[in-house]
Amino acid sequence: MTDLLSIEERRLSEQERLDRLRSADERNEWGQFATPPPLAVDILRLAQTLWNGNERVRFMDPAIGTGSFYSALLKVFGSEQVAAAHGIELDPLFAEMAASLWEKTGLSVANADFTTQRPPQNTKYNLLISNPPYVRHHHMTAEYKAALKRSVLERVGIRTSGLAGLYTSFLLLCDSWLEPGALSIWLIPSEFMDVNYGDAVREYLTSKVDLLRISSLLPFRYPVL
Ligand SMILES: C[S@@+](CC[C@H](N)C(=O)[O-])C[C@H]1O[C@@H](n2cnc3c(N)ncnc32)[C@H](O)[C@@H]1O
Repeated sequence: MTDLLSIEERRLSEQERLDRLRSADERNEWGQFATPPPLAVDILRLAQTLWNGNERVRFMDPAIGTGSFYSALLKVFGSEQVAAAHGIELDPLFAEMAASLWEKTGLSVANADFTTQRPPQNTKYNLLISNPPYVRHHHMTAEYKAALKRSVLERVGIRTSGLAGLYTSFLLLCDSWLEPGALSIWLIPSEFMDVNYGDAVREYLTSKVDLLRISSLLPFRYPVL
């Protein structure tokens, strides 16, 4: 437990250091906005309330950053309940950091573009939590968008719009990483509920999965101190 606390402390200071290496524009283009630890823990607590008893966790985060959800997973579920854990990260600095921070805890990290990765054939994941990169369509090339569209159509049979952000493809492509009965929780912009290009996400959530809830939390304490 003390070990986990010190890894988490180091993770937070490295996260800050790595964030400072990039300009605001670069972070925007990479969709690099880390999940604050209290929110990550809240999400894992929600996962725990929806979990099937003592079943061991095979965890996956397709855009792992430094591992905020993995850290919260160990804190909330405990490492004994985690049978396997895998993260994918495009930015080599974040991928190396996640691998070095968590190497002794059993997390495997791939430095790769999640959208080009082949899903595993045999062992899939039963808990997938993601705060995917919020990269707007105009930061992606026409070729990249066409490749995303093809992969999504091939894997889930859903047509995406060229105006959809990268998070749409992440959500739909994760489908083939999940085992039947898997729990998946996503931190995504609420725009998909209103805009035309959100139809692919709406179709997926209403036809391919058992949607458990949509939350939009806005707690505050009044007044400002
Ligand atoms: C919103 S951040 C979330 C990071 C971490 N999971 C968290 O919650 O703090 C998204 C992460 O996805 C990474 N990323 C961007 N494009 C990616 C891609 N195509 N494949 C994998 N990771 C990607 C970014 O570098 C960034 O670390």
